[in-house]
Amino acid sequence: MPAVVIVGAQWGDEGKGKATDLLGSRVDYVVKFNGGNNAGHTVVIGDQKYALHLLPSGILSPGCIPVIGNGVVVDLEVLFHEIDGLEERGIDTSRLVISANAHVIADYNRTLDKVNERFLGSRKIGTTGRGIGPTYADKMNRLGIRIQDLFDEKILRQKVEGALELKNQILTKVYNRRAASADEIVEELLSYVERLRPMVADTALVLHEALAADKTVLLEAGQATLLDVDHGTYPFVTSSSATTGGACTGSGIAPTAITRVIGIVKAYATRVGEGPFPTELFDDDGEQLRKNGAEFGTTTGRPRRCGWYDAPIARYAARINGVTDFVLTKLDVLTGWEQIPVCVAYDVDGERVDEMPMTQTGFHHAKPIYEFFPGWTEDISAARTFEDLPETAQAYVLALEGMSGARISTIGVGPDREQTIVRHDLL
Ligand code: GDP
Ligand code: IMO
Ligand code: MG
Repeated sequence: MPAVVIVGAQWGDEGKGKATDLLGSRVDYVVKFNGGNNAGHTVVIGDQKYALHLLPSGILSPGCIPVIGNGVVVDLEVLFHEIDGLEERGIDTSRLVISANAHVIADYNRTLDKVNERFLGSRKIGTTGRGIGPTYADKMNRLGIRIQDLFDEKILRQKVEGALELKNQILTKVYNRRAASADEIVEELLSYVERLRPMVADTALVLHEALAADKTVLLEAGQATLLDVDHGTYPFVTSSSATTGGACTGSGIAPTAITRVIGIVKAYATRVGEGPFPTELFDDDGEQLRKNGAEFGTTTGRPRRCGWYDAPIARYAARINGVTDFVLTKLDVLTGWEQIPVCVAYDVDGERVDEMPMTQTGFHHAKPIYEFFPGWTEDISAARTFEDLPETAQAYVLALEGMSGARISTIGVGPDREQTIVRHDLL
C-alpha cells in the first residue's frame, strides 16, 4: 500500500507538475492536498502544453484517478473553467473526485486578498490575489464554507451570513469597499451544485480503501517547503501546509502509509513574490537564468526572481519533509556558464552559518558563501543517461547530491516528458 509524496524543495515552480506527470501512468491516484489555484504547473507532452492550476497533474494520465483533497481551497469558477478547457482538448476529466471537506473560495475572499495587499503597501506578501490566504484564515477561524455546505441550502445561507457579519464591517469600514451580498454569494455557489454533486466523496475513505487494496497513491504538493506556513520564510509564505506533514492532514492518509518522499529541486533557485532569497541575482546572470529557464509565473505571468542553487535550503527541505529522493530539474538551463556558483553556507553578520538560520532576522541578513564548479557548453537536452552528460555536468550533480541530504534520482534536461534521466526508479 504505497503512498508517495511529491513536494517542492525550494520556493515553488521547481517542476512538480512534470514530475507528477512522469509517474502518472504508473500510479492509481494523484491527490492534490494543499493550496488552490495559486499553483501553476506546466506539463509538456509532445507538442502539447498544459497549464494546470487547481486540478492535480494526474488528470492528464488516463487510468489515474485525480483527487482534490480536504486540504485544498477550491475556486469553483476556476475548477469548471479548467475542466471545460481540458475537455475541449480531448482530456477526460470524468474521474475527478473532490473532498466534501475541502473549503470553497468565496468572492469576498478574493476581494479581501487584493485589498489586504494594497493596505499592506511596502509590507505586502506579493500574493497571487486568488483569495487563498483569507480562505485559509476563515478555515482556521471556523468561518469557512465547505463543499458539503453547498448541498444544504439552509446551512449554506447561515454560514455565508455568519461570515459576512464580520467581513462586511471590514470591507466597508476599513477598506471602504462595497458590502458583499449574502444572496449573491449563495446564488453563485448554488449554481455549481448539480455539476459538483457526482464528483464529491469522502476522499479520505476512498484513499484508505485504495491503499488497503494495494493501489499506489501519489500526493502532489502545491507551492513548496520555503512557502509552507509553518516551515517557510514566514510571513512571506502561502497559507497552507506544503510539506509532507500537510500531505497527511490534507488528504486523511496516515504518516505510516507513506513509503517515499520525492523532493523536487531546480538546479538553481527562483522565487515569485516578496521575501528573503539569499542567492538572488540582480545582474546579467540573473537575467540569463530567467531567459534560459523561461522563468515567468504560470499563474500570474510575473517574472520570477532568479539565483544560484542554495544547498542549505535543499538540506532544510530534506529534513523537514524526510526526502528520500530528489528530482533535479532544469539542469539544461545552466548550459553555457564557465563556472557555476553554489551556496554552501551563509555569512550572517560576520559569522559562518551552515544551516538555515533559526530566525527571520538571521535569514534576512544571510549572505551566500559560494563554492564554484566548472560549467559546460554542450547542449545536454538530448541526454538520456547520466553518462551522456558532460563530465563537468556530472560533477555538478554529484556535488549537489553530496550537499543536499538525499540522493538525486532523476534529472530533468528539458520540459518534455522524454527529457529526463533516471538514475534510480522513483516508485
Ligand atoms: P511546478 O509549479 O513545480 O509544477 O513548476 P512550474 O510548472 O510552475 O514551472 C516549471 C517550468 O519548468 C515549467 O514550465 C516546466 O515545463 C519547465 N520544466 C520542468 N522541468 C524542466 C527541465 O528539466 N528543463 C527545462 N528547461 N524546463 C523544465
Ligand atoms: P506552484 O504550486 C511559486 C507565492 C506567491 C506569494 C506567496 C503567497 O506553482 O509551485 P498566495 O497567493 O499563495 O497567498 O501567495 O506564495 N506562491 C507561489 N510561488 N509557485 C507557487 O505555486 C506559488 N503559490 C503561491 O507568489 O509570494
Ligand atoms: Mg508553478
